[in-house]
Amino acid sequence: MTVFPLEALRRRFPSLAATDDGLRRIYLDNPAGTQVPQTVADAICDAILHRNANLGGGFPTSQAAGNIIERGHAAMADFLGCDADEVVIGPNMTTLTYRFSRMIGRGLKPGDEIIVTQMDHEGNVSPWLQLADDLGLVIRKLPFSTESWQIEATALEAAITDRTKVLALNYSSNLTGSINEVAKLVAVAKAAGVLTYVDAVQFAPHGLCDVRALDCDFLVCSAYKFFGPHLGVLYGRRAVLETLNAYKCRCSDNTLPYRFETGTPQIELVAGLEAAVDHFAWLGAETGQGGSRREKIAAAYAHSIAHENTLCGDLVDGLLQIDGLTIHGITGKERFSARVPTVSFTLSDITPQELVARLNEEGIFCWAGHNYAWEVVHQLGIDPAHGVVRIGIAGYNTAGEIAETVEAVQRNARMLRQG
Ligand SMILES: Cc1ncc(COP(=O)(O)O)c(C=O)c1O
Repeated sequence: MTVFPLEALRRRFPSLAATDDGLRRIYLDNPAGTQVPQTVADAICDAILHRNANLGGGFPTSQAAGNIIERGHAAMADFLGCDADEVVIGPNMTTLTYRFSRMIGRGLKPGDEIIVTQMDHEGNVSPWLQLADDLGLVIRKLPFSTESWQIEATALEAAITDRTKVLALNYSSNLTGSINEVAKLVAVAKAAGVLTYVDAVQFAPHGLCDVRALDCDFLVCSAYKFFGPHLGVLYGRRAVLETLNAYKCRCSDNTLPYRFETGTPQIELVAGLEAAVDHFAWLGAETGQGGSRREKIAAAYAHSIAHENTLCGDLVDGLLQIDGLTIHGITGKERFSARVPTVSFTLSDITPQELVARLNEEGIFCWAGHNYAWEVVHQLGIDPAHGVVRIGIAGYNTAGEIAETVEAVQRNARMLRQG
């Protein structure tokens, strides 16, 4: 494999350059949102400054705006491995999930069952809980295994009944980082005629989504977690989208996917979305990959996950040297292919808030709290008022940044203990 072009990659992100104030900025808040390359910002600016019009007009700016929307869908089709008319773009994952759960609910009857998991972010739990309240549905909660840190197929099989209609499933946890064997779980659900709704928000920044290989019915992700603008994107299997009764204005476009994109879209952000996909393609080309955009995207992931896993190994090794520190997730490097490089931990005698306040002051950006992984903290018996310290690596982070972070965590833990 060619060398990972880290320096060239970092040069694309203005926020990673040295700052005038000389203050340290280490971005390890990536699971909450990544930094953005100049190309994404340029595409957004160009669209809003030079191609700013609403859709459907006969004049050049309106046609250019329409072109942006088409290109955004085509880019995401390459990104997810589907067709452009199966891509629905919306404000964010949570809003898309509220919308789609309502449309799926139009086909459900009281007593029908939905399975949610205790590994999921609330964005893929609360919409289903509230749908169940509205329609008299039954919710079954599936815990994850604290040995494998994944949802087990046997547990899923046991939870499915002849009333189960939907499985809402996490691809990768935003707290533990572990990756589910989604294709295997989808196959179990599918064999029982259960619709599958996969939350890939935390997986998409780190791994290639292949919705055909997964064979899921829906998959959602958020562009601002993979170097793009604040948008959410949903894949829906065409045959399933066609059966949904869309909530839409009766006079608006009824074609796929536009019947699901109500109102005026965030046109300039969709321009940025295409640029974010092209950023992956750029990275793939930089590693020597030719061919289609999707082939280049796949190469970009292969190279960046190798780099990210090296950093993740350094982080885990450094953290495990601290007394009383528990990592909530996979720590064995032989199982790193079953996790993304998002590492959450607690300390026996220091709250996440105390430690993270110090790290933030030192210019190390990371989070304390439950991170909306409400079910996860409850299953693990972690006080949701405190949650965990979460350090999340992205492809642009460096070994030096991880070494500085480990040193800062070790030093601050020691100082907090000394009082
Ligand atoms: C796993 C996961 N799912 C869903 C969401 C919600 O995404 P959005 O902010 O796009 O609604 C997040 C946000 O952090 C997440 O980490």
